[in-house]
Amino acid sequence: MSHSLEETHLTALAEWWEEMGVEVDRSALKQAAPAKTLKAHQEPAAAPAPVATRSSLGKLGSLEARVAAAQSLAANAQTLDALKEAIEGYEGCPLKAGANKTVVFDGVQGAPVMVIGEGAGGTEDQVGLPFVGKAGKLLDRMLASIGLSRETNTFITNVTYWRPPGNRNPEADELAVCRPFVDRMVELGAPKLIISAGGVSAKSLLETKTGIMRLRGKPVQYITPGGVSAPLVPIFHPAYLLRRPQDKSRAWRDLLLIQKLLAADGAFSSH
Ligand code: URA
Repeated sequence: MSHSLEETHLTALAEWWEEMGVEVDRSALKQAAPAKTLKAHQEPAAAPAPVATRSSLGKLGSLEARVAAAQSLAANAQTLDALKEAIEGYEGCPLKAGANKTVVFDGVQGAPVMVIGEGAGGTEDQVGLPFVGKAGKLLDRMLASIGLSRETNTFITNVTYWRPPGNRNPEADELAVCRPFVDRMVELGAPKLIISAGGVSAKSLLETKTGIMRLRGKPVQYITPGGVSAPLVPIFHPAYLLRRPQDKSRAWRDLLLIQKLLAADGAFSSH
């Protein structure tokens, strides 16, 4: 099988990025290859998996209608499993078209701690569970350092349920249609404490433009539209800490604060 020069370059670029720890959407890279690399007699390759574009969004209906549909589905779900099923069947998020799997939650249902991240990366999109790639492994170690784990006392989810193409940040409308599900997740899970992992999650949940540098380590009371509330502590995203290990000492301070808040709440007392 022969490859054009551009294709070879793009493959090398993808491999280099992957070595640097960046998850690469190879189908998106392929799409970026200039059309002139096709020989005259060649037919264009079959279209890659559909990725919703801004112009194709019309088909999904207005943002208001899609948020209303999400609110209705979320309100009807009476258990976390029912909510997961509702999210899996929801067609109003443009990210769904380009994703392999719907990534909803992992861990212990009804756990005292709920971690809310940003959204699936490449590994999560293949496996269908949140935080199972490199960043997820670091998250597990961070949680373990203060006695938390998805096996025993922690529930893990995200503010979006489908991987954004090329791991870009989710757009405002993509976050908005997922939000009713996130709030219902908090209502049904009733955590004693929420950890938001990374700036995208914290800014979206707290509806602020303030960055994670300022938000991290400061507990804020999170209240859902249904009136369920819990303290929320923003922390650095583990993927950020993989890139900037020098900030791990700050992350450690935030973890100690979380441990203190849980101890003060008696979240893990045996009676
Ligand atoms: N990053 C996130 O924020 N969530 C995941 O599930 C994986 C990586």
